[in-house]
Amino acid sequence: MIYGRFHALFSVIIYVKVRLIYQLMHNHIMVHLPTIVKATSPEPQRNARGRDSSPPLSEGPALAREYVLIEEIGVGGTSKVYRAQSMDGRDVAVKLATGAVASKISEAHACSLIRRETIALEKADHDSIISLIDSGVFDGKRFMVTELLEGVGMRDYLAVRGALAFKDAKPHLLSICKAVSSLHNLGIIHCDLKPDNMKVITGHDGTETIKIFDFGFVKFKHEGEICTDRCGPFNRLGTPNYMPREQILGNTFDHRVDIYAVGTIMYQMLCGNLPFESMNPREVLDMQINKMPEDPRTRRPELNIPWGVNAIVMRALRKRMEERFQTMDEMAKTIDNWQA
Ligand SMILES: Nc1ncnc2c1ncn2[C@@H]1O[C@H](COP(=O)(O)OP(=O)(O)O)[C@@H](O)[C@H]1O
Ligand SMILES: [Mg+2]
Repeated sequence: MIYGRFHALFSVIIYVKVRLIYQLMHNHIMVHLPTIVKATSPEPQRNARGRDSSPPLSEGPALAREYVLIEEIGVGGTSKVYRAQSMDGRDVAVKLATGAVASKISEAHACSLIRRETIALEKADHDSIISLIDSGVFDGKRFMVTELLEGVGMRDYLAVRGALAFKDAKPHLLSICKAVSSLHNLGIIHCDLKPDNMKVITGHDGTETIKIFDFGFVKFKHEGEICTDRCGPFNRLGTPNYMPREQILGNTFDHRVDIYAVGTIMYQMLCGNLPFESMNPREVLDMQINKMPEDPRTRRPELNIPWGVNAIVMRALRKRMEERFQTMDEMAKTIDNWQA
């Protein structure tokens, strides 16, 4: 039993470490940029948001479009992301499954993660969630095409801005909560919400919009809520700083893992720090399991974070999922009711 738990912890730690090293090693490396050409078939149907709402692509008939990969703009442990252009001249992003020896994720596993990501994005429909344009298989590798996000990563945004006043954090938090709520209503649990998987896009009038992406670790409610080691390779993928106890231990988990992650992001926005900070992911995991973080008011007394706002963060971060907000909507309403 104890061994089983440590084994679970160890697996997550290994994954996180190698992924970090992999990312450091592979940033800014030039790659051969192919042109993805797909076979011919009818034009796709588009929904109200202009997004491809054709039935999910299988290895069957493909679409009469191709994508020229222009430059690499992101590398993860499972994929590479390119700025690309479609034949109709649209700037898009192409995420191509690669897998990586370093992250222990095979190409086949990476393809299945992108497939799952595509299935989630085909259903999702919210302005703060990245729009899917197309998907398919190229040279045996699965890829998906999305809108190109020309913004600043939320991690960099927070690093530059430092701790945000509640009035500045509130609109971003509400966008995130409402987008995630729309996912939960569709039975989709993101499972890897964090600033690295969000961008802040500034419009011409200066308004800032959040976009959430990277659905690689998504869980679908119809897969069942019992997420133990026996359920396959997907359930222990995640990022220690944002993972609640039940997700780390491989216990039963549900949409409330996302509530915990949004609570962590809220803490980070208001304090400028994570609830638990350590260079050692194993220590972070231990604290996620066993320790309540210092509340934001105690952590940053000089910021005079309102008591009510402090309470919202700490409720989202409860160890027992039954004690957190039970729905993303409930959390959104509580945030909205608090006057900045
Ligand atoms: N649609 C997009 N537009 C612009 N940049 C993107 C887009 N999608 C991903 N990226 C960049 O690529 C990086 C890796 O993409 P992500 O989907 O998070 O992959 P991974 O699953 O490997 O973390 C992101 O951190 C982001 O900087
Ligand atoms: Mg990511």
